[in-house]
Amino acid sequence: MKDLVINGTEKGKLERRSVPVVNIADVEREALKRIPKHSLDYYRSGAGDEITLAENCLAFNHLRIRPRFLRDMSTRVTATTVLGIPVAFPVLVAPTAMQRMATPLGEVANALACEAEGTIMTLSTISTSSLEEVAHATPNSPKFFQLYIYRDRELTRRLVKRAERAGYRALVLTVDTPFFGQRYADERNHFKLDAHLKMANFEEEDKEASERINRVEANLKSGSSGLAEYANSLFDPSITWDDIAWLKSITSLPIVAKGVLTREDALKALETGCSAILVSNHGGRQLDTVPATIEALIEVVDAVQGRCEVYLDSGVRRGTDVFKALALGARAVFIGRPMVYGLAYDGLAGGRKVLQMFRREFEQTMGLAGCATLAEIQRSMIVPAGYLLSKL
Ligand code: FNR
Repeated sequence: MKDLVINGTEKGKLERRSVPVVNIADVEREALKRIPKHSLDYYRSGAGDEITLAENCLAFNHLRIRPRFLRDMSTRVTATTVLGIPVAFPVLVAPTAMQRMATPLGEVANALACEAEGTIMTLSTISTSSLEEVAHATPNSPKFFQLYIYRDRELTRRLVKRAERAGYRALVLTVDTPFFGQRYADERNHFKLDAHLKMANFEEEDKEASERINRVEANLKSGSSGLAEYANSLFDPSITWDDIAWLKSITSLPIVAKGVLTREDALKALETGCSAILVSNHGGRQLDTVPATIEALIEVVDAVQGRCEVYLDSGVRRGTDVFKALALGARAVFIGRPMVYGLAYDGLAGGRKVLQMFRREFEQTMGLAGCATLAEIQRSMIVPAGYLLSKL
């Protein structure tokens, strides 16, 4: 899809030129032109002063790749597995809430894009398409379900059971959200869910719980209280690592602990029987000034020592970012905002385009760095900027 940028040049004369969309920054720029301000701010913003939001990307840029040459780069193999499930390349899609604000088919378009490109989508608990709807649209492709634990455990149990029945392959338990972080943009906008949308995973739940959710949703729609109230009134802030045992007692699905940033919590996740760890700071949306995930990754990988798979999200925007995360020990990365921007830019086609960009850039990075296979991507290929100079 092409867009027009208007450049005021000579007096009274406008020069029009189309700007091709060739990378994720271009997709973001075009997406932001297409969605209303309150949705745009919701997708884009981070917590507090957005220090971590910015650091997530900057930290990747502060790492340098030490390439190797003359190693036969005629073919590069990007395919791998995640929890034993094959994917065409090591970029998966993170859960992001309320995608129908970006495109009419919302999460369904996202799942179709992932299916077409051979990767895994993670559906958010607070999606605007129901988990069954998404599963029905893509019956043959593997998907994960992201779980928030609600104060109402029966409601949570039913969600888990429905995800199992619908064929989701793992539960991605978000551990960094006893309640939502402070997002100034949403507060200023009195962020509200558009009137025609709903939290689609709750309509069939038991009457009392869905009535309570609907009450909070009504507030969300009236804009009087914002999304934070939803989380604060419904998510259980008292959960601990011990609750993983409860979760494991009601499901045999593998559990991915999403939001781990420290050695200590990585060990807790292992002890409590999580099958994998997703190093994440929620895209800088929870506690501001926590470390960029590419920095936290090393500590987690070293603590885990190969005992479970480790993934990373937050700030991944380029093929070189994927390469750096894998070199530092991640098995795969997840992308959040880039996928939402792809959907806002051009629906299903935009989602596919984003995934294709990541795949192409990553494969190119492998080739130019001298890695024909994922196993050849090693920690020794990454150094901090300035490292070589510091040895002078
Ligand atoms: C999120 N994220 C998120 N995480 C989660 O566990 N459940 C959710 O419902 C949401 N919702 C959500 C909405 C939006 C708009 C964003 C941007 C993020 C966090 C998400 O899964 C992921 O951790 C980050 O998006 C990764 O950072 P990047 O790729 O956006 O930089």
